[in-house]
Amino acid sequence: MQEIKLRELLDSLTWTEKVGQLVQLSGDFFHSEELAVGPKKKLGITQETIDVVGSVLNVTGAETIRVIQERYLQNSRHKIPLLFMADIIYGYRTIFPIPLGLGATWNPKLIEEAYGVIARESRSAGAHVTYAPMVDLVRDARWGRCLESTGEDPQLNADFAAAMVRGLQQESGREFEGIASCVKHFAAYGAAEAGREYNTVDMSERRLRQDYLSGYKSAVDAGAKLVMTSFNTYDGMPATGNEFLLKEILREEWGFDGVIISDYAAVQELIAHGVAKDEREATALAMKATNDIDMKTGCYANELESLVTDGAIDPELVDAAVWRVLKLKNDLGLFEDPYRGSTVEQEQQTLLTKENRSLARKVAQESIVLLQNKGELLPLEANKNKILLVGPYGDEQDLIGLWAVHGKSTDVVSIKEALEKELAKETFSYEKGCGLLADYQFLGEFGATKEQIHSLGMTDNEREAALNKALEAGKDADIIIYAMGEHTMQSGEAGSRTDISLPLIQKEFIEKMTELGKKNILIAISGRPLTFTKEVEQMDAILQAWFPGTEGGNALVDILFGKVNPSGRLSMGFPENVGQLPMYYNEFKTGRPLNSSTHRGRFVTKYLDSPNEPLFPFGFGLSYGRVDYEELTVSSKKMTDHLTVSIKLKNRSDYECLETVQLYIQDVTGSVVRPIKELKKYEKINLLPHEEKTVVFALQREDLYYYMKNMQFGTEAGTFNVFVGRNANDTQQAVFELL
Ligand code: BGC
Repeated sequence: MQEIKLRELLDSLTWTEKVGQLVQLSGDFFHSEELAVGPKKKLGITQETIDVVGSVLNVTGAETIRVIQERYLQNSRHKIPLLFMADIIYGYRTIFPIPLGLGATWNPKLIEEAYGVIARESRSAGAHVTYAPMVDLVRDARWGRCLESTGEDPQLNADFAAAMVRGLQQESGREFEGIASCVKHFAAYGAAEAGREYNTVDMSERRLRQDYLSGYKSAVDAGAKLVMTSFNTYDGMPATGNEFLLKEILREEWGFDGVIISDYAAVQELIAHGVAKDEREATALAMKATNDIDMKTGCYANELESLVTDGAIDPELVDAAVWRVLKLKNDLGLFEDPYRGSTVEQEQQTLLTKENRSLARKVAQESIVLLQNKGELLPLEANKNKILLVGPYGDEQDLIGLWAVHGKSTDVVSIKEALEKELAKETFSYEKGCGLLADYQFLGEFGATKEQIHSLGMTDNEREAALNKALEAGKDADIIIYAMGEHTMQSGEAGSRTDISLPLIQKEFIEKMTELGKKNILIAISGRPLTFTKEVEQMDAILQAWFPGTEGGNALVDILFGKVNPSGRLSMGFPENVGQLPMYYNEFKTGRPLNSSTHRGRFVTKYLDSPNEPLFPFGFGLSYGRVDYEELTVSSKKMTDHLTVSIKLKNRSDYECLETVQLYIQDVTGSVVRPIKELKKYEKINLLPHEEKTVVFALQREDLYYYMKNMQFGTEAGTFNVFVGRNANDTQQAVFELL
C-alpha cells in the first residue's frame, strides 16, 4: 500500500481501533468461544477489543492462521490484517542447536544460512514475525537463559545478532523475503543479579554501553523490524517503562523507528515492580517510554483510550505507535496478501526437507566442542572396539531444548539410532543404566500431572537393577559412552540453578561405572555451561553437545568417528565451580592482580579455595589434529589508522583441521580501567594435513574504540597489547603504540 494510503487509513481509525493495533493477545482468544472465556475474563478483555486487536502471539501453522485471519478480516471494518508473531528461536520444524551451541560455531555466516532456513520454514507456516534473535549477553551460567544467548562476548554476540537478523529477514532493498525479526530482550536482561531469573539488573552506564548493548545495536543496525523490552530493571526502572533505554538510547541515539513490543505481561508487571500503582499508571509509563505493543495484558486495551481522551497522554504518542505497527504490516505486504503466500501445500514442501536437515547436521557438527581427549581416545574406529552406550540421553529424541516450541522431538535422530547405523551389532550395545533425575516433582510447575511425574521416576529397586545391567554390560565393553546432562526443563526461561553440575543420580552412576576401568567418553547435553570438575578426572574424552537439535545424533556420530574433526569453541567459559560466577574472560584489571602483583601471597585478587580461572576458558575447544601457532608479527610498532597482525599456522597432524584463530587486544592505560583482554577479530581457517597458512588480521583504529572517561566513544593514544591464539588463555603477545 502506498504510504499516503496508509496515512489515510490511520486517520480513519477511531481511538478504539487505534488502541486495538497496540494490543497483542494469544491464540486462545481467537480459536473458539469456549477457550476464550478464561483468559478474556482474566485480562478483562472485551469482544470489542478482540475484534480490533492488532496481533496474535504464538499461533503458527498455515491452516490455523488462515482460519483465524479469514474470520477476523470478515468482521473487520478496515480489513487491517492480524500480525502473527511467534517464538521461533533456533528452528521452526528443523531444529538447530540451541543458540549457546550456535555461538560455539564462531561462524556467523553459517548461522545466517541457518536462519534463512528458519525464515523459510516459519513463513511457510504462516508466521510474520519471530521473537528472535535473543542477544542478551550472559556471564552467569546459573541463569537458565544462557541457552538462548550466543554467549559472553560483545563482539561475537554482535556478529551473530546481525547474521541472525539478516538470515531471518532476507531483505534486499524494500522487499523482504523472510520474516520480521524482533530482537530481544532490551536491555541487559542477561545480567540478572545472582543469575536468578527476572531479578534486578543494576550496572554502570559505561558497562551497559560497552558490553551489554552491542548485540541489540548490531541487530538494529542490521535492520531488525522490532525490539522487545526485557523483564528486568535498569537503574531502578523496569525496561518496559524505561525512557532512558527505550526513548533516549533506542529511538533517539540509534534512530530505531520500528515497533517496540513489551515482553509477556511486562506492562502490567510495572505494578508488581512498584513503579505504577495500577494498570492506568502502568499504561502511561510504557506508552511514554514509546513501548508500542502491550503483549498479553489488558492494560493498553482497557486504559489507553481514556488516557488519551482525558488528556493524560499526548495523542501523537499513540498515533506514532499505531503508525509503526501499520507500517510493519505494510512492509510485510499484508495488505496485499494477509497470508504472505503461506498455504498448507507450500508448508508441507518447505518443512524439514533433506536440505534443511543437512544444514542442521552441519551446524550441529560445528557447535559441538571437544573439551577433553586424553590419550587421543577420539576419534574412534568403527567396529574395532566393543562400545557400550549408557545414560538417559542415549536413547532419547528429546534433544531440542526448551525453546524449540514448534519442533517435534519425534523428528530427532537419537544418539543410539545414529550409532546403530554406524556400528555392527556385535560391537555395539546400549543400556540406559540411569534416569535423568531422581525426582521429577518440579515438572508439576510446568503442568505435568501426578501420574506423569510418577511414571518418569524410578523406584530404588528399579534404579539398582538398571545400574546392575549397565555394570554387567560394561564388563564386556572396551569403551563406554555416557550420554548425560540436564533435563530440558532445567534450562531456558525460569531455569535458574545454583548447582550447575550433572544431576546427582547421574554423578553416582558415573562413579560406579567408571570403577570398571574402561575407556570413558562423556557426551554432555545441557543448556548452559556445567561444572565438570569431577568428570575431567573420570572421563577420557568429553564432548559438549548442548541441545544439538534434530540432527544431533548424526552430528555426534560424525564427530565420534572422525568423519568430522571437531571445531567448536566455547563462546562462554565453563566455570570450575559455581562460586566463581559471574565469570567472564574480559574482566577489568584490578589493583592487585593475581600474577605480576606488587603484593604477594594472600592480598591479591583470588579465592582461598578455588582458582580464578575457569575450567575451560572462553574460546576453548580441542581438535583431533594439532595446529601450532608461530611467529606473531605486527606490521608496525606504531599505529595511526590501521595495522595488520599476522600469525603463521602449521598443521602438524594428519587430520584436516578447522582452526578458530582469535585476536584480542588490551588497552594498557586508559582514562578509565580497561579489560584485561577483548576479542576483536577471529577467523576460521581450514588446514589440510600438514598444511601451513598465514592468517592476517586488519586492525582499524575504530576497533580500539571504547567509552572513555567523558563517555565519548573513541580511543586514546598509548600502548596496546595484541594477543593471538587458540583461546582467551592461550595466546601469543605483541605490542604497538597508538599515536
Ligand atoms: C519470554 C520472551 C518470549 C515471550 C513470548 C516471555 O516469557 O521472556 O522471550 O518471546 O514470552 O512467548
